[in-house]
Amino acid sequence: MEFNIKNVCCIGAGYVGGPSMAMISYKNPLLKVNVVDLDEDRINHWNQEDLNKLPIFEPGLKEIIKKCRNKNLFFTNNVEDGISKADMIFICVNTPTKIKGLGAGQASDLKWIEASARQIAKFAKSNTIIIEKSTIPVKTAETIKAILTNTKTTNSEKIKSKNFYVLSNPEFLSEGSAIEDLSNPDRVLIGGENSKAIEALSNLYTKWIPSEKIIKTNLWSSELSKLTSNAFLAQRISSINSISALCEVTGANINEVSRAVGSDNRINSKFLKAGPGFGGSCFKKDILNLVYLCNFYGLNEVAKYWESILDLNIWQQKRITSIIVNNLFGTLTGKNIGILGFSFKANTNDTRESPAINICKDLIEEGANLKIYDPKVNHKQIEKDLGKKVYLEGTNNSGTWKFFDDLYKVSIDSDALVVLTEWDEFSKIDWSIISRSMRSPSWIFDTRNITNKEEIKKNGIKLWEIGVSNNPS
Ligand code: NAD
Ligand code: UDX
Repeated sequence: MEFNIKNVCCIGAGYVGGPSMAMISYKNPLLKVNVVDLDEDRINHWNQEDLNKLPIFEPGLKEIIKKCRNKNLFFTNNVEDGISKADMIFICVNTPTKIKGLGAGQASDLKWIEASARQIAKFAKSNTIIIEKSTIPVKTAETIKAILTNTKTTNSEKIKSKNFYVLSNPEFLSEGSAIEDLSNPDRVLIGGENSKAIEALSNLYTKWIPSEKIIKTNLWSSELSKLTSNAFLAQRISSINSISALCEVTGANINEVSRAVGSDNRINSKFLKAGPGFGGSCFKKDILNLVYLCNFYGLNEVAKYWESILDLNIWQQKRITSIIVNNLFGTLTGKNIGILGFSFKANTNDTRESPAINICKDLIEEGANLKIYDPKVNHKQIEKDLGKKVYLEGTNNSGTWKFFDDLYKVSIDSDALVVLTEWDEFSKIDWSIISRSMRSPSWIFDTRNITNKEEIKKNGIKLWEIGVSNNPS
């Protein structure tokens, strides 16, 4: 079977579907790409004339959207139409952790994958290539194939005449650098059985990626490699965070240790930055998924090993709250604390699994009145994550929070500021302005080690930095 790919459909217009299809359409101008989603609001935002209102913020994304949208890249709610015209369909839907039923709390919820497979079985034409781009448990391709071959038409006849070719092509982009990662990926992974289908997908990528970077494997290796990559990355962060705590009590400095350790070529310097714990929609869910798979196959020791990476991550978040409470005389009741950064990392408006959520909830629980500022996360999103709380400054009521859109207003009458996201603007703060408006004794808790420590100290503010032993007591 020879494939002539002219029309591509992507099911799911989210953080992966949007940017990855923008890049594919940009690099393949003769291809028509339809990104379909059930969520009307999301599609409306993708179609906004004002490119600052796209549903996700990624540096470099709006420039590409401007070049391709409504030329060879289309965003639509017409799922049936998008699927029926496609020669190749990417499944980019969400695969969160199951919240109820068998495997709840660990296994991936594949209901969106299943729904997509059913839509494809119903509307796609024969000989379509189906690509799993979502992150999924090993053997999911089996489920997709089973649905594709067994779904019945409305008149209950089996679809015997349709052939589908299922490939795995996991996405490795990171949020905040999605366009850069898609432009110059370390590798593109394609797992599958049909060499012609693999070649057809590979041909879309070789328009801008050298063919040596395209790794071809069997389906199961591809699916498992994605989970393993995320688990290894998360493991490095938990490792360095565990050492940050040791640095604080021994006289070592985490930045110096990271540098020394990362200079070893075998280890390398990436993903060795201590912080408030990893967040994002992927690491926790993918490790939980791995843990579930290991337990399922009776590999309980392996499951425990990976579970400990998550335990350490929660411990690191709790540790930050305890340090703040201990330094502010053991109580936060009635104290005003500014939160600088709410997204799970810089350069994204995504707050999924952000360490800021747990840390803010814990601080509120301790009685603090939080003033939250993030350059890209809006009030509505924070309300979704923290719930509504009436802000009553300086009262002894239980803790509250309030949204601020000006960093310098957050500091007014605050007892402490806590840096939770490594936004560049936090490294350029004018501490002479901040110090005049804060209550005394004023504290900065820098969980990302990005602030200008000399300036902070020069302006009479006490500074606590993660993984640094000479923190004031
Ligand atoms: P997302 O929640 O941002 O987007 C998923 C979209 O799919 C939603 O807009 C939803 O409405 C849509 N959808 C769900 N079911 C549908 C259906 N049946 N028909 C049409 N649309 C449907 O998710 P995301 O962050 O883009 O992640 C998607 C997948 O990619 C996940 O498996 C994730 O693990 C993986 N992944 C994510 C990242 C990341 O950085 N976010 C990176 C690599 C891989
Ligand atoms: C991750 C993977 O990196 C990416 O390959 C995969 O496709 C999706 O999951 P993402 O979650 O978008 O990407 O961001 P990432 O840069 O990996 O950061 C995840 C979390 O780890 C963030 O909270 C970040 O602040 C934290 N982190 C990262 C650290 O604390 N220290 C580091 O050195 C690196």
